[in-house]
Amino acid sequence: MSKLPSGAEKRRAVREMFDAIAPRYDLVNRVMTLRLDVAWRRRTVRELALPAGSLVADLACGTGDLCRELARQGHSPVGLDFSMGMLRAAPAVVDGSIMINADVLELPLRAGALDGATCGFALRNLTAVQPLLTELARVLRPRGRVGLLEVDQPSNPMLRWGHGIYFGRLVPLIGAALSDRDAYRYLPESVAYLPPAGELQDMVRSAGFTDVRHHRLSAGIVQLITATRAG
Ligand SMILES: C[S@@+](CC[C@H](N)C(=O)[O-])C[C@H]1O[C@@H](n2cnc3c(N)ncnc32)[C@H](O)[C@@H]1O
Repeated sequence: MSKLPSGAEKRRAVREMFDAIAPRYDLVNRVMTLRLDVAWRRRTVRELALPAGSLVADLACGTGDLCRELARQGHSPVGLDFSMGMLRAAPAVVDGSIMINADVLELPLRAGALDGATCGFALRNLTAVQPLLTELARVLRPRGRVGLLEVDQPSNPMLRWGHGIYFGRLVPLIGAALSDRDAYRYLPESVAYLPPAGELQDMVRSAGFTDVRHHRLSAGIVQLITATRAG
C-alpha cells in the first residue's frame, strides 16, 4: 500500500494487507520492537485494573497477543478481527479465548456485555476512530474499563529525531527483509491517520468515558489511553 487510502478502499486494502503479512506478523513485531511490545501489552491489561475472571474483548485482535495476555492475567478474552489471515495465524491455543471474525465498527455483542476492552495498534488502521469509541461505549457495562494502545512520537526533540529514523527508515527495511516491503512502508505512513493525543482523549470523553488517562510508554514511542465507562 503506497498511498494512504480512505473509506471502503482503506478497509479493503487494510484487510488484504493483514491477510498477506499474517504468517510473519508476530516475528516482525518482536524484532522491530526488540520485544518491548510484550511489556506494552502486559501494561495495557494491568492498567484495566479489573478483577480476575472479567469478560474482556480485544478489538482488532490480530494474532491474539493481547488475548493471550488477558488470559495470562486471569481474564476471559474475546478476540475480534476482520482479517481471517490474522485469526488463522493465531497460535492454535489462545488459552480459552473466543476468536470472532468481525468488523469492530459493528460489534456482534449486546449492550453492556463486557467488563473491559482493549485495542492494540489498530486505531490508525480503521476507516474512522469515532464509530469504534461509540461501539465501545455501547458494549461496556457501566464502570467497564478500556485500554487503547497505539504508536506515538517522543516529545523530546532528540529522541523524536532518533525515533523518526528508526521508525521511518529502519522498520521498513526490517519489514522488507522478513516480510512485505509495502506493508512495512505503510506502517510509519499510517501514523498520519491518528488524531493528536489530546484530540483522541477528547473523543474518548465525548463517547461516554470518564477518568481518561494518557500514559507514555518507552520514552513516548507508544501511548496507552485508559478510561472508564461512565456509570
Ligand atoms: C497492527 S494490527 C494489530 C493486531 C493486534 N491488536 C496486535 O496488537 O498485534 C491491526 C489489526 O487491525 C485489524 N483491523 C483493522 N480494521 C479492522 C476492523 N474494522 N475490524 C476488525 N479488525 C480490523 C487488522 O485486521 C489487524 O489484525
